Amino acid sequence: MEYDEKVKQPINLFEYERLAKSLMPETEWDFVEGGATDEITINRTRQAFDSIMLRPRMLVDVDQRDMSTNVLGQRIDFPVMLSPAGHHIRAHPDAEIATVKAANAMNVGMILSSGSSVVMEDVARAATRRIWFQQYFYRDRAVTELMAHRAEDLGFSALCITLDASIRSKRERNLRNDYAIPPSPNYEGILNGENFNPSSDDAPLNVSGMVSPKVTWDEFEWLASKTDLPLIAKGVMTAEDAKLAVDHGVSAIIVSNHGGRSLDPTFATIEVLPEVAETVNGQAEIYLDGGIRRGTDIVKAIALGANAVLIGRPIFWGLAVNGAEGLRHLLELLREEFDSSMGLCGNTDISSIDRSLVGRTSPLAGRI
Ligand SMILES: Cc1cc2nc3c(=O)[nH]c(=O)nc-3n(C[C@H](O)[C@H](O)[C@H](O)COP(=O)(O)O)c2cc1C
Repeated sequence: MEYDEKVKQPINLFEYERLAKSLMPETEWDFVEGGATDEITINRTRQAFDSIMLRPRMLVDVDQRDMSTNVLGQRIDFPVMLSPAGHHIRAHPDAEIATVKAANAMNVGMILSSGSSVVMEDVARAATRRIWFQQYFYRDRAVTELMAHRAEDLGFSALCITLDASIRSKRERNLRNDYAIPPSPNYEGILNGENFNPSSDDAPLNVSGMVSPKVTWDEFEWLASKTDLPLIAKGVMTAEDAKLAVDHGVSAIIVSNHGGRSLDPTFATIEVLPEVAETVNGQAEIYLDGGIRRGTDIVKAIALGANAVLIGRPIFWGLAVNGAEGLRHLLELLREEFDSSMGLCGNTDISSIDRSLVGRTSPLAGRI
C-alpha cells in the first residue's frame, strides 16, 4: 500500500501536509505552499527549528501541567493561534467558518485575514470566543479607518496590522500557473465605491494596489487615535523595528516573515526572535509564526522569548483533509505534542520555560 493511502488519519502535521497535497488541485496547493522567488526563506524558517536542541531537566514534578496562557488579556488553552491567511475556501468550501469552529472547539486564538473568503460579519457571528482581525495600512486612510471600525463594531478584540506585504512579491509558482483569485468579499462596496467615498482622487481599483507602501511608523499613533482596539504589528524581523514598534505604542509584535511569501531570502523567524525579545524587554507581547509544525517548535519559541506562536499553512492542511474537524484534530495533535514535550523538558507551565532549555552549539565544540 502506498504511504499516502495508509495515512488517512494523520498523526502529525507533516502527514496532514502530505495528505492535503494529495487532495488539493496542484495550482491551489502551489498557492498555499509556495513563497517568493527561490523559497529560501521558507526552507530556512523551518530548518532553523531543527537546528535547535533541547536541554531537558530531570526529577521535576511534572505530573500536573498547565499549558494555558493569556494573549492581550485573553486566555487560550495552549499558546497557539491561527495566523491571518486569506482565502480559506481554496482548501475547503466551509472556509473561515470551519476555521473559526476549530478555534472555538480548541480555545485557541484566531486572527481573521481581511482577505477572508467569508465576509468578516459572518465569521464574527460564528465565533464563540474572542477573535482578532488583520488588515493593512491602506493608501486611503478612510479605508483603514473603515475596516478598523467595522472590526471593532463586530466585536473583534484586537487589530493586527500586517507590515511586510505592501509591495507585491514575486511568487513564481503563481506566475507559472497563471493563478489569480477574486478579491475578498470584505472589500465589496469598497472596491466598487458603493459604500465608500474615497478621500483621495485615485480610487483604489484592486486590493494589492490599496495597501500603502508609503506609510511610516507614525501611522500606528494615527490609528490608535481612531480605535480603542489594541494594535499588533505583524512582520517585525529586526531589533530596530521592534524598538520602533514599542516606541509607537503597539501592544504586541508578531515576528513573522510572512511564511516566506514576501521577501526572500530573510532569516528564519526563530533566528531573530532573541534580538526582538531583548529589545522589547516586556514592553509588548511577542508572538512568532513561520514553520511551527511540532510541539517542540512551540517550546523553542517560548524559550527564546515568544508569548505564543501562530500557524499559517497548517490551517489549510487541516481544512483540506476534513474541514473544521480536520483543523480541530490538527490543533489537538499540536497540543498533545506540546504537552508531552513540555513535560519531558521538566516544565509544568509556560512561565517556567526559559532560555536555558535550548542550545544550538554542540557541547562538544571546543572540548574535542
Ligand atoms: C495561503 C496564505 C495566505 C496568507 N494570507 C495572509 C494575509 O492575508 N495576511 C497576512 O498578514 N498574512 C498572510 N499569510 C501569512 C501568514 O499569516 C503567516 O505569516 C505564515 O503563513 C506563517 O508561516 P507558516 O505558513 O509556515 O505557518 C498567508 C499565508 C498563507 C500560507
